[in-house]
Amino acid sequence: MSKLKAAVIGAGFMGRTHVEALRRLGSVEVASVAGISEAEAKSFAAAMGVEKAAASVDAILKDPEIQGVHICTPNATHFPIAMKALEAGKHVLCEKPLAMSAAEARQMKELADKKKLCHATNHNLRYYGATQQIRRMIQNGDLGEILVVQGTYSQDWLLYDTDFNWRILRKHNGPLRVVGDIGSHWMDMIQHVTGLSITKLCADLNIVHKTRKQPKVAVETFAGKTLRPEDYNTIKIDTEDFGMVMLHLGPRCRGAYTVSQVSAGCKNRFEIQIFGTKAGVIWNQERPDELWIGRRNEASSVLLKDASLYYPDAAGYVDYPGGHAEGYPDTHKMLFKRFWARVANPKSPVEYPTFADGLRGMELLEKIIESNKSRGWVDCKPGKK
Ligand SMILES: NC(=O)c1ccc[n+]([C@@H]2O[C@H](COP(=O)([O-])OP(=O)(O)OC[C@H]3O[C@@H](n4cnc5c(N)ncnc54)[C@H](O)[C@@H]3O)[C@@H](O)[C@H]2O)c1
Repeated sequence: MSKLKAAVIGAGFMGRTHVEALRRLGSVEVASVAGISEAEAKSFAAAMGVEKAAASVDAILKDPEIQGVHICTPNATHFPIAMKALEAGKHVLCEKPLAMSAAEARQMKELADKKKLCHATNHNLRYYGATQQIRRMIQNGDLGEILVVQGTYSQDWLLYDTDFNWRILRKHNGPLRVVGDIGSHWMDMIQHVTGLSITKLCADLNIVHKTRKQPKVAVETFAGKTLRPEDYNTIKIDTEDFGMVMLHLGPRCRGAYTVSQVSAGCKNRFEIQIFGTKAGVIWNQERPDELWIGRRNEASSVLLKDASLYYPDAAGYVDYPGGHAEGYPDTHKMLFKRFWARVANPKSPVEYPTFADGLRGMELLEKIIESNKSRGWVDCKPGKK
């Protein structure tokens, strides 16, 4: 059976993650890769054992063998690469946040729809078995009416002023940093699992380091912690290290989350806490197989991931027996499997976040900027400009 052919654009942390996850599907071959330069593509292709290293993104788009591309490059490049790819007739799976603005995201969605091509925004974190189980528990009424959502996405990799990455610079990452980078995941997750929409928000953002030491050579995500004075320039910082956002989700549900890249000891502490009229749940990405279920009148419990103990729909997001950990790499596999099933057969259900979800994320991010600037609450009902 011939395999579907994918290309991965971007040779960093996400590029590697996508290549590995795609290979686990069995039905898709990573036929080509591209990077910032031909040299980067060549060394990436050699390291990952990919047959073709494209000289440029355009070379991939001209390659008739490639059916779909995965865009794993800095945020500012998502829009131009995705638009070119769609024009070239390629299906597009793009990293989050989808674009630099809602206007860009809207154009991406409109073009993908016009061309009748598959489009996905990589909100992979939806696809932990435990978070899918939470979604089914809420759909089945186990928690009752949802009253309160709380949580955080906290990291520590930008704690020191010597920590640096392209995400710190607006021109690569956009006007928001930590809220765009990881707050986008939190807001997508809470809406996905509860089925509620964020309707109002109030944000407060803080730049902890007003200046940072920018290395004279590029540093990859999560790498490089120690710099000598001769290795960096001191630059002014205008993107936030920390954010807190209060939320309304419809008439009765209220909540708040924080996002941070300066919280010592938190690596990828992505936690959601959801409390309803009957029960509550808490889930933390750093212990992804554990789902705390809280009850008022009986003992609370911890459900360790086990497909046989999950609702049948959630069990489809678990591939290994209970007690064998599944984690972050598996979430990508679960999303890509559903995206490529749709590429193979347009009658397959759309069981993955699309550009519409990415657009909704961008609209919320713009509302956060507005709220932080006005120091007040802003309406953000879906469909409201
Ligand atoms: N879904 C997730 O869990 C998750 C996690 C991390 C990052 N991301 C997203 O993935 C994207 C990439 O992040 P990363 O951490 O892999 O960054 P990275 O810095 O590790 O890698 C970026 C790669 O893109 C290449 N590149 C830059 N501009 C390019 C261009 N114009 N054409 C081709 N290649 C280009 C760089 O040379 C590098 O190889 C970002 O949008 C980020 O928000 C998502």
